Amino acid sequence: MIKGVIFDLDGVIVSTDQLHYKSWKRMADKEHIYFDDTINHRLRGISRMASLDIILEIAQKKYTDQEKLELAKYKNDYYVTLLEELSEKDILPGVMNILEILKRMNIKIAIGSSSRNAKKILKNIGLFDTFEAISDGTNISKSKPDPEVFLKAAKMLNISPSESAVVEDALSGIEAAKNAGMTAFATGDAKSSPIKDYDFEDLLEICKK
Ligand code: BG6
Ligand code: MG
Repeated sequence: MIKGVIFDLDGVIVSTDQLHYKSWKRMADKEHIYFDDTINHRLRGISRMASLDIILEIAQKKYTDQEKLELAKYKNDYYVTLLEELSEKDILPGVMNILEILKRMNIKIAIGSSSRNAKKILKNIGLFDTFEAISDGTNISKSKPDPEVFLKAAKMLNISPSESAVVEDALSGIEAAKNAGMTAFATGDAKSSPIKDYDFEDLLEICKK
Protein backbone atom coordinates (compact mmCIF):
# COMPACT_ATOMS: atom_id res chain seq x y z
CA MET A 1 0.00 0.00 0.00
CA ILE A 2 1.33 3.42 -1.00
CA LYS A 3 1.48 5.84 1.95
CA GLY A 4 3.68 8.52 0.40
CA VAL A 5 4.72 9.84 -3.00
CA ILE A 6 8.19 11.28 -3.54
CA PHE A 7 8.37 13.63 -6.50
CA ASP A 8 11.50 14.46 -8.42
CA LEU A 9 11.51 18.24 -9.00
CA ASP A 10 13.22 19.16 -12.29
CA GLY A 11 11.15 17.76 -15.17
CA VAL A 12 8.34 16.48 -12.96
CA ILE A 13 7.06 19.47 -10.97
CA VAL A 14 8.68 22.20 -13.04
CA SER A 15 10.56 22.39 -16.32
CA THR A 16 14.08 23.74 -15.74
CA ASP A 17 15.69 21.73 -18.52
CA GLN A 18 16.24 24.70 -20.87
CA LEU A 19 17.63 26.82 -18.02
CA HIS A 20 20.19 24.09 -17.21
CA TYR A 21 20.94 23.84 -20.94
CA LYS A 22 21.53 27.59 -21.36
CA SER A 23 23.77 27.69 -18.28
CA TRP A 24 25.91 24.67 -19.18
CA LYS A 25 26.13 25.85 -22.82
CA ARG A 26 27.45 29.24 -21.69
CA MET A 27 30.14 27.51 -19.63
CA ALA A 28 31.02 25.04 -22.39
CA ASP A 29 31.30 27.87 -24.97
CA LYS A 30 33.63 29.76 -22.64
CA GLU A 31 35.85 26.65 -22.43
CA HIS A 32 35.47 25.83 -26.16
CA ILE A 33 33.90 22.46 -25.38
CA TYR A 34 31.19 21.07 -27.66
CA PHE A 35 27.80 20.84 -25.92
CA ASP A 36 24.38 20.07 -27.36
CA ASP A 37 20.91 18.87 -26.41
CA THR A 38 21.92 15.20 -26.57
CA ILE A 39 24.67 15.76 -23.99
CA ASN A 40 22.26 17.89 -21.91
CA HIS A 41 19.86 14.94 -21.90
CA ARG A 42 22.46 12.76 -20.21
CA LEU A 43 22.56 15.22 -17.30
CA ARG A 44 18.95 14.65 -16.20
CA GLY A 45 18.81 13.66 -12.57
CA ILE A 46 22.61 13.78 -12.27
CA SER A 47 24.26 16.00 -9.64
CA ARG A 48 26.03 19.22 -10.63
CA MET A 49 29.59 17.91 -10.29
CA ALA A 50 28.76 14.57 -11.97
CA SER A 51 27.11 16.56 -14.79
CA LEU A 52 30.26 18.64 -15.20
CA ASP A 53 32.37 15.46 -15.47
CA ILE A 54 30.12 14.25 -18.31
CA ILE A 55 30.53 17.59 -20.16
CA LEU A 56 34.31 17.49 -19.68
CA GLU A 57 34.59 13.94 -21.09
CA ILE A 58 35.28 15.41 -24.55
CA ALA A 59 37.43 18.36 -23.40
CA GLN A 60 41.00 18.58 -24.72
CA LYS A 61 42.29 19.92 -21.44
CA LYS A 62 42.55 18.07 -18.12
CA TYR A 63 40.94 20.16 -15.38
CA THR A 64 42.09 20.23 -11.76
CA ASP A 65 39.55 19.79 -8.94
CA GLN A 66 39.82 23.50 -8.17
CA GLU A 67 39.15 24.45 -11.80
CA LYS A 68 36.15 22.11 -11.84
CA LEU A 69 34.71 23.81 -8.76
CA GLU A 70 35.15 27.17 -10.48
CA LEU A 71 33.40 25.96 -13.64
CA ALA A 72 30.50 24.52 -11.62
CA LYS A 73 30.21 27.86 -9.81
CA TYR A 74 30.29 29.77 -13.12
CA LYS A 75 27.42 27.61 -14.38
CA ASN A 76 25.41 27.79 -11.18
CA ASP A 77 25.77 31.56 -10.69
CA TYR A 78 24.16 32.11 -14.09
CA TYR A 79 21.57 29.33 -13.55
CA VAL A 80 20.46 30.98 -10.30
CA THR A 81 19.86 34.29 -12.10
CA LEU A 82 17.69 32.41 -14.63
CA LEU A 83 15.76 30.76 -11.77
CA GLU A 84 14.58 34.22 -10.68
CA GLU A 85 12.31 34.21 -13.74
CA LEU A 86 10.50 31.05 -12.55
CA SER A 87 7.00 31.44 -11.18
CA GLU A 88 3.77 29.50 -10.60
CA LYS A 89 3.14 29.50 -14.35
CA ASP A 90 6.13 27.16 -14.81
CA ILE A 91 4.53 24.35 -12.78
CA LEU A 92 3.96 21.51 -15.24
CA PRO A 93 0.37 20.77 -16.35
CA GLY A 94 -1.65 18.48 -14.07
CA VAL A 95 0.76 18.71 -11.14
CA MET A 96 -1.38 20.92 -8.88
CA ASN A 97 -4.39 18.69 -9.44
CA ILE A 98 -2.48 15.51 -8.51
CA LEU A 99 -1.00 17.11 -5.38
CA GLU A 100 -4.45 18.22 -4.19
CA ILE A 101 -5.97 14.78 -4.78
CA LEU A 102 -3.11 13.02 -2.95
CA LYS A 103 -3.55 15.37 0.00
CA ARG A 104 -7.28 14.60 0.09
CA MET A 105 -6.43 10.88 0.05
CA ASN A 106 -4.13 11.45 3.07
CA ILE A 107 -1.13 10.33 1.08
CA LYS A 108 2.06 12.09 2.15
CA ILE A 109 4.05 14.03 -0.44
CA ALA A 110 7.77 14.81 -0.56
CA ILE A 111 10.45 16.07 -2.92
CA GLY A 112 13.41 13.84 -3.84
CA SER A 113 15.71 15.93 -6.04
CA SER A 114 19.44 15.96 -6.82
CA SER A 115 19.36 19.75 -7.06
CA ARG A 116 21.06 21.95 -4.51
CA ASN A 117 18.68 24.70 -5.73
CA ALA A 118 15.51 22.72 -4.96
CA LYS A 119 14.32 24.91 -2.08
CA LYS A 120 14.90 28.11 -4.08
CA ILE A 121 12.95 26.66 -7.02
CA LEU A 122 10.09 25.58 -4.75
CA LYS A 123 9.93 29.06 -3.22
CA ASN A 124 9.93 30.73 -6.65
CA ILE A 125 7.03 28.58 -7.89
CA GLY A 126 5.09 28.97 -4.63
CA LEU A 127 5.27 25.31 -3.51
CA PHE A 128 7.77 25.49 -0.67
CA ASP A 129 5.16 24.80 2.03
CA THR A 130 3.23 22.22 0.00
CA PHE A 131 5.52 19.23 0.63
CA GLU A 132 5.88 17.50 4.00
CA ALA A 133 9.53 16.73 3.35
CA ILE A 134 12.26 17.98 1.03
CA SER A 135 15.23 15.70 0.35
CA ASP A 136 17.58 17.38 -2.10
CA GLY A 137 21.17 17.86 -3.25
CA THR A 138 22.04 19.52 0.06
CA ASN A 139 21.40 16.42 2.17
CA ILE A 140 22.92 13.68 0.02
CA SER A 141 26.45 12.59 -0.85
CA LYS A 142 25.61 10.23 -3.73
CA SER A 143 23.89 11.12 -7.00
CA LYS A 144 21.01 9.15 -8.57
CA PRO A 145 21.00 6.21 -9.50
CA ASP A 146 22.09 5.80 -5.90
CA PRO A 147 18.90 5.50 -3.80
CA GLU A 148 20.10 7.87 -1.04
CA VAL A 149 17.90 10.88 -1.91
CA PHE A 150 14.71 8.77 -1.94
CA LEU A 151 15.57 6.73 1.15
CA LYS A 152 16.13 9.98 3.06
CA ALA A 153 12.80 11.39 1.80
CA ALA A 154 10.94 8.25 2.97
CA LYS A 155 12.64 8.48 6.34
CA MET A 156 11.55 12.13 6.66
CA LEU A 157 7.97 11.04 5.87
CA ASN A 158 8.30 8.20 8.38
CA ILE A 159 7.30 5.54 5.86
CA SER A 160 9.10 2.44 4.57
CA PRO A 161 10.48 2.07 1.02
CA SER A 162 7.76 -0.47 0.17
CA GLU A 163 5.13 2.13 1.13
CA SER A 164 6.79 4.76 -1.07
CA ALA A 165 6.17 5.70 -4.68
CA VAL A 166 8.54 7.83 -6.75
CA VAL A 167 7.68 9.99 -9.78
CA GLU A 168 10.66 10.53 -12.09
CA ASP A 169 11.46 11.88 -15.56
CA ALA A 170 15.06 10.60 -15.63
CA LEU A 171 16.29 7.08 -16.28
CA SER A 172 18.84 7.56 -13.46
CA GLY A 173 15.93 8.46 -11.16
CA ILE A 174 13.88 5.38 -12.04
CA GLU A 175 16.99 3.30 -11.29
CA ALA A 176 17.41 5.12 -7.97
CA ALA A 177 13.78 4.42 -7.03
CA LYS A 178 14.14 0.72 -7.84
CA ASN A 179 17.47 0.58 -5.97
CA ALA A 180 15.57 2.01 -2.99
CA GLY A 181 12.95 -0.75 -3.21
CA MET A 182 10.18 1.73 -4.12
CA THR A 183 7.43 1.74 -6.77
CA ALA A 184 8.64 3.79 -9.74
CA PHE A 185 6.29 5.95 -11.85
CA ALA A 186 7.69 7.38 -15.06
CA THR A 187 6.99 10.58 -16.93
CA GLY A 188 8.69 12.14 -19.97
CA ASP A 189 11.85 10.37 -21.13
CA ALA A 190 11.73 7.88 -18.27
CA LYS A 191 8.67 6.26 -19.82
CA SER A 192 11.08 4.28 -22.02
CA SER A 193 12.69 2.72 -18.93
CA PRO A 194 12.49 -1.08 -18.94
CA ILE A 195 12.52 -1.13 -15.13
CA LYS A 196 9.76 1.43 -14.35
CA ASP A 197 6.67 -0.01 -12.68
CA TYR A 198 4.01 2.34 -14.08
CA ASP A 199 3.51 5.61 -15.91
CA PHE A 200 2.72 8.81 -13.98
CA GLU A 201 -0.86 8.68 -15.36
CA ASP A 202 -1.44 5.47 -13.34
CA LEU A 203 -0.42 7.03 -10.00
CA LEU A 204 -3.85 7.82 -8.53
CA GLU A 205 -5.27 4.45 -9.46
CA ILE A 206 -2.37 2.58 -7.80
CA CYS A 207 -2.57 4.83 -4.72
CA LYS A 208 -6.26 3.90 -4.29
CA LYS A 209 -5.34 0.20 -3.89
C1 BG6 B 1 18.58 17.55 -11.16
C2 BG6 B 1 18.60 17.87 -12.63
O1 BG6 B 1 17.29 17.68 -10.65
O2 BG6 B 1 19.46 18.42 -10.45
C3 BG6 B 1 20.02 17.82 -13.15
O3 BG6 B 1 17.80 16.92 -13.33
C4 BG6 B 1 20.92 18.75 -12.33
O4 BG6 B 1 20.03 18.19 -14.50
C5 BG6 B 1 20.82 18.37 -10.86
O5 BG6 B 1 22.27 18.65 -12.76
C6 BG6 B 1 21.66 19.27 -9.96
O6 BG6 B 1 21.12 20.56 -9.98
P1 BG6 B 1 21.75 21.83 -9.25
O7 BG6 B 1 20.59 22.80 -9.21
O8 BG6 B 1 22.17 21.40 -7.87
O9 BG6 B 1 22.89 22.28 -10.07
MG1 MG C 1 14.16 15.21 -13.16
